[in-house]
Amino acid sequence: MPAIVLLGAQWGDEGKGKATDLLGDKVKYVVRYQGGNNAGHTVVIGDQKYALHLLPSGILTPSCIPVIGNGVVIDPAVLLEEIRGLNERGVDTSNLKISTNAHLITPYHRTIDKVSERFLGKAKIGTTGRGIGPAYADKINRIGIRVQDLFDPSILRQKIEGALRDKNQVLIKVFNRKGIEVDEVLREYLEYAEILRPYVVDTSLLLNQALAKGENVLLEGSQGTLLDVDHGTYPFVTSSNPTAGGASTGSGIGPTKISRVIGIVKAYTTRVGSGPFPTELFDEDGEKLRSIGGEVGVTTGRARRCGWYDAPIARYAVRVNGLTDFFLTKLDVLTGWEKIPVCVAYEIDGKRVEELPASQSDFHHAKPIYEYLPGWSEDITKAKKLSDLPTNAQNYVKFLEEISGAPMSAIGVGPGRDQTIVVKEFI
Ligand code: GDP
Ligand code: IMO
Ligand code: MG
Repeated sequence: MPAIVLLGAQWGDEGKGKATDLLGDKVKYVVRYQGGNNAGHTVVIGDQKYALHLLPSGILTPSCIPVIGNGVVIDPAVLLEEIRGLNERGVDTSNLKISTNAHLITPYHRTIDKVSERFLGKAKIGTTGRGIGPAYADKINRIGIRVQDLFDPSILRQKIEGALRDKNQVLIKVFNRKGIEVDEVLREYLEYAEILRPYVVDTSLLLNQALAKGENVLLEGSQGTLLDVDHGTYPFVTSSNPTAGGASTGSGIGPTKISRVIGIVKAYTTRVGSGPFPTELFDEDGEKLRSIGGEVGVTTGRARRCGWYDAPIARYAVRVNGLTDFFLTKLDVLTGWEKIPVCVAYEIDGKRVEELPASQSDFHHAKPIYEYLPGWSEDITKAKKLSDLPTNAQNYVKFLEEISGAPMSAIGVGPGRDQTIVVKEFI
């Protein structure tokens, strides 16, 4: 059985954690391939709620081996805290595998993330402040520190010295901050080395051997298509590739091994942080979506911006990811509206535009063109199959499917594992 990618089709927080967890017992490995602890993935099992940041959502399925791939940036302090928290709740994390090539977030990345946002003022991106961008910048600049460097103290010292040489100049002279001591970082990171050692392996080799044996591998994205550094609303994006190509580079699995790419898409839209958002609502409908949908960030606690479903975005996600399926989430949140607007195209400078515009300036003043679908008022949170849904809810799903360009193969009607209508099995 080949690999399957599961990723966000909008601006993140689509319900990737729930969807991954749902497939947990059908796959042997669940792999995070990009991002870091900017992610917040929620999994609800019975009356237990888990918020995962760095660990793949497969960690909650005992038969599943969770993998942190080479494309992820790891803050060791956060990772160890997350492991400890789960262990305290009785979750076994001893199966975790971490790539030798994943990069590390250090205290100076966190500091630079925060001060550079402050200096951007009104133009700030609204990052999570976790050091994600600066850590990826060092990776691309070839001065990053990798997991494998932890096991060679003299290399580790050289790399920290190299990275801090100009960073301290910038921190002191540009940002008027204290410099960071090499020895302090070195001492802290050498302590992590011994704790992390048992988890560290060549994850690309491990995953390719698993695929060769016919085992199932699920690649779990964080963030979403519109937050992709290449394909998203740059510069209001994260610093990695959540899109399907990133699943390959971030795990060391060739694209020919990937058979299915599932886009998780909310029945409406949310966004955290700055940047354009054509269907954003500033009225009581937006407030209603936020309160019924519980739209508060898992990582930063910020209120999420809310708006209606945007079909050009969904079509764009199909295009840049080669989506084979959608997993539609949070349909239950739309219960109770008389009419539900769906953005089917944009108006830009008086013209109707069907696709996401190639120019960011155009996207900034794209106005949504809505079609209005009749709503429903029945409780749908216990629906098990499509025919359990009220006709108007079925029609809403059908309409989204037609206009978005890929089948809605699963539909979420509540946060629980079992609150899912499976239209077509993924595996
Ligand atoms: P992720 O980052 O993509 O994993 O998504 P988050 O966990 O940040 O946000 C999704 C939120 O929606 C979480 O609180 C989930 O428990 C919840 N959720 C997921 N699917 C559904 C659904 O179908 N219905 C409802 N009501 N909540 C859902
Ligand atoms: P999950 O995996 C929603 C957003 C931040 C900010 C931008 C850049 O839970 O869907 P960063 O700290 O990554 O440099 O911030 O990206 N962002 C997310 N928004 N869900 C996420 O993750 C996000 N991770 C980052 O709000 O706008
Ligand atoms: Mg989230």
